[in-house]
Amino acid sequence: MIIRIVLVATATAVAIGATAVAAQGDVIAERQALMKRSGEQGRIGTQMVRGEAPYDQAKADAVLANFADKAAKLPTLFPEDSRTGATRALPGIWDKAVEFNAAIAKFAADVKAAQGATKDLESFKAAYTAVNRDCGTCHETFRRPQQR
Ligand code: HEC
Repeated sequence: MIIRIVLVATATAVAIGATAVAAQGDVIAERQALMKRSGEQGRIGTQMVRGEAPYDQAKADAVLANFADKAAKLPTLFPEDSRTGATRALPGIWDKAVEFNAAIAKFAADVKAAQGATKDLESFKAAYTAVNRDCGTCHETFRRPQQR
């Protein structure tokens, strides 16, 4: 009886351990997929700002809505156990958590302001430029440069 309980307990522990590993990989993949999507959305925004594509209010709204969704999700996507693995996240995310959370908060606030301000190409340009700067600032501080 005791042996059976121990066996069951061990099997459960192994299963939980496997889930933890999978969850950690998932959260890294999830944040990278989210970032990738905003990279694609960002290209649409940048093309309109540069006049390489005609300004389209619906597209501008969609780009900003995508960023707002991302800003809301970011705080949950960097758990302590996702420091290592196939990630370019730098240790500062956890070691300077106050600074990292402030970068997310600034991004969220600028996206919200951009959503309120965007009515035409001119207003989109100004708001979008501020938002884009937030992407770059966070990457410079908290993302490992690509190894080539
Ligand atoms: C608060 C910080 C922060 C903000 C704001 C932020 N990023 Fe990132 N971004 C990161 C980190 C950290 C990574 C690395 C994630 C990893 O590898 O686990 C990353 C990765 C990426 C990647 C590479 C994804 C891949 O395929 O691995 C792209 C593209 C990207 N970000 C685009 C953007 C764009 C566009 C914005 C703005 C709209 C933005 N990011 C805003 C922190 C941020």
